[in-house]
Amino acid sequence: MTAGEPAGLAILISGRGSNMQAFIDACSRGDLNARVSVVVSNNPGAAGLERAAQAGIATRCIDHRDYASREDFDRALVDCLDEYPVDLVILAGFMRILTPVFIQPFSGRLLNIHPSLLPKYPGLNTHQRALDAGDPEAGVTVHFVTPELDGGPPVLQAKVPVLAEDNAESLAARVILEEHVIYPLAARWYLEGRLKLEQRGATLDGELLPATGIPYREGLD
Ligand code: GAR
Repeated sequence: MTAGEPAGLAILISGRGSNMQAFIDACSRGDLNARVSVVVSNNPGAAGLERAAQAGIATRCIDHRDYASREDFDRALVDCLDEYPVDLVILAGFMRILTPVFIQPFSGRLLNIHPSLLPKYPGLNTHQRALDAGDPEAGVTVHFVTPELDGGPPVLQAKVPVLAEDNAESLAARVILEEHVIYPLAARWYLEGRLKLEQRGATLDGELLPATGIPYREGLD
């Protein structure tokens, strides 16, 4: 990545792609000095593929069901991304567990967003689990990806209140609004060279980040 030149993003999705759309919008507004090089889905029916194509972005579908193992699928993903200029890989609702075959070549330039206040609730059904536990707040975490599922160093975390009348759907709707804010912000920090994955953890401007990432607040820049 050369200073001044737009960086290349690869966005991996499995579904609707609202986080992907937040990145497309952030690029077109100039909030991110980047362009989306390719959107890849493991799911041929992902609505996000259509949204990306409509925005004139290259789309690829690599159906995990066509591969005998996770490793074979991951190798196909790496080969696909190798065809595009990729400075940063954004997992945006990508619902496949990745192996080191994919994670290692992109280590340090691979971000994920997970809809819980990690380290709480890695895995699936995060909103229902927060409700079942009676948590007063829920939220979302952007983190670097390492081979440990949802276990890589957190970068940014946004919290929302849990309301008495919430169900998983209403809570998800409140959380996703925060996702669209904090994910492009974390990516911007990365593209500006401020955010790094180091041996000791995630750092911003050389400072080690707290174990749950930076708490998001308005005006954070
Ligand atoms: C988002 O809530 C994202 O945090 C979550 O999937 C949703 C995708 O929505 N990701 C995970 O659960 C990853 N384990 P989107 O397709 O509208 O961006």
